[in-house]
Amino acid sequence: MKNKTSIQGTWASRWIFILAATGSAVGLGNIWKFPYITGENGGGAFVLVYLICIALVGLPIMMAEVFIGRRARKNPINALEDLAEESGQSKKWGIIGLMGMLAGIFIFSFYSVVAGWVLHYIKAMATGELANVSSEQAGALFNELLADPATLLGWHTLFTLMVLAVVIAGVNKGLERATRIMMPALFFLLIALLGYAISTPGFSQGWDFMFHFDVSELSWDAVLVALGHSFFTLSLGMGTIMAYGSYMPKKASIGSTVLMVGALDTLVALVAGLAIFPIIFSNGMNPGAGPGLMFISLPVAFGQMAFGQFFGFLFFVLVGVAAWTSAISLLEPSVAFLVERFKLKRSTASIGLAILVWLLGIACLGSFNFMSDVTFFGKNTFDALDYLTTNIMLPLGGILIAIFAGWFVKDQFVKDEVQTSNFIHVCWKVSVCVISPIAVSIVLLLNL
Ligand code: PFF
Repeated sequence: MKNKTSIQGTWASRWIFILAATGSAVGLGNIWKFPYITGENGGGAFVLVYLICIALVGLPIMMAEVFIGRRARKNPINALEDLAEESGQSKKWGIIGLMGMLAGIFIFSFYSVVAGWVLHYIKAMATGELANVSSEQAGALFNELLADPATLLGWHTLFTLMVLAVVIAGVNKGLERATRIMMPALFFLLIALLGYAISTPGFSQGWDFMFHFDVSELSWDAVLVALGHSFFTLSLGMGTIMAYGSYMPKKASIGSTVLMVGALDTLVALVAGLAIFPIIFSNGMNPGAGPGLMFISLPVAFGQMAFGQFFGFLFFVLVGVAAWTSAISLLEPSVAFLVERFKLKRSTASIGLAILVWLLGIACLGSFNFMSDVTFFGKNTFDALDYLTTNIMLPLGGILIAIFAGWFVKDQFVKDEVQTSNFIHVCWKVSVCVISPIAVSIVLLLNL
C-alpha cells in the first residue's frame, strides 16, 4: 500500500492524534455510564474487572484498529478491503467496516438524545432552576423533560448541528481545531471538579466505594457489563479509531500512542467516579440509582452544597464537551467512506448523514413519550439501539477485527507498521488471536 497520507488530511502531530482519539473515547460513556454501572455493580470489584478488560482486550484491539487505518490511509471499509487483498484474503472483510458505520449511526441517534439532556441541564444549572431541589422534585423535573418531545427535539437538533459544524469543516479545520480547544478545556474542568469533590466530606467514602476490591462481590453479570463497556468507552469495534488512525502521522509509534489513549480514557472514567460518588455520599444518596444518577441524584446533591450551582454548571459543561468530541467521531468514518467511495463532497456527505441520524434520533427521543409503545424484544427504541450496539455490534466488530488482524493479516505487515519490541508483539498476538476472541465470544453468547 503506497498511500502516504489520507485524502482527508493528517493530524499535525502524534499528540493531536492522542488528544483526538481521547476526545472520541472520553464521552458520556465515562462520565454518565461508567459511574452508574459501577454503582449498580457494586463498586470496586467491577472497577477491577473493567481495568482488566481494558488492558487485555481493549488496548490490543485498539492497536489493531490504528494499525489497519494507518497502513491503508483510507476509511475503515476500504482500509479493511485493501489490507485483506494485500494479505491474499477475501475483500469481504470490508463488511466489518460497513457494520461499524451502521453502529456509529445507531449510537449517534441515542447519544445525541442524552447529550441533549446534558444541554438542557447546562441551561437549568445556569438559570438556577435546580437550586435546592429535593429528590422528588429533581426526579419530577427529569421526567417532565423526558415527557416533552418538543423540548427534547430542540436540544437533539442543536446537538446534531454542533456536531455537523465540526465534521463538515474537515479533519484539520474541523476535528483538529475542535480537539485543540476542547480537550484542554475538558481536562481543566475535570481537575476543577475533582478538587471540589476532594473538599467534600464524602470523599473517602467515594474512594473506598471505587477502590475497595472485594472479590466476593464479583458477579458474572458485572463481567459482561464491564467487557461490553470497555468497547464502548474506548470507541472500539466500529472503525472510529481506524479512521482516526488513518490520519496519524507516519512516524508516531502505535504502541505507546495507544497506551496513552487507553490510560487517559481510564483516568477520566476513574476521576469522574471520584468526582461523582463523594458528592452522592456527602448527601447520603444511593450510588446504585442507575441512569438517573447524573440527572437526578447529582443535581440534588449539588443543590445542597456550597457553590453547588456553579460547580454543577461546570460539571454539565464538562459532560457536554466530552459528548461533543465523541459524537464527532461517530460520524467521521461514514463521512470518509462516502467521500472516498462515492466521490461525494464532504459537505454533502456530512449533511446527508446528519439528517439521517437526526431522524433516527427522533425515534429515540420518542421512546420516552409519543413512541413509548414501540418496542423491540421488549425494549423501547432508545434502549434497543443502546443494547444492540453496546452489547452486540461493538463486541462483534471488535472480535472480527482481532481475528482479522491476528490470523489473516500477514504478520510482517503488522511488524512493519507497529514496530514494537518482540515481547510486546507476542503479547499483542496472544491477545488478538486467543484471549480477545474467546473472552468476547463467551460474553456475546451469554448476552444472547
Ligand atoms: N467512547 C464514547 C464514550 O465513551 O462516550 C462513545 C463512542 C464514541 C463509542 C465513538 C463508539 C465510538 F465510535
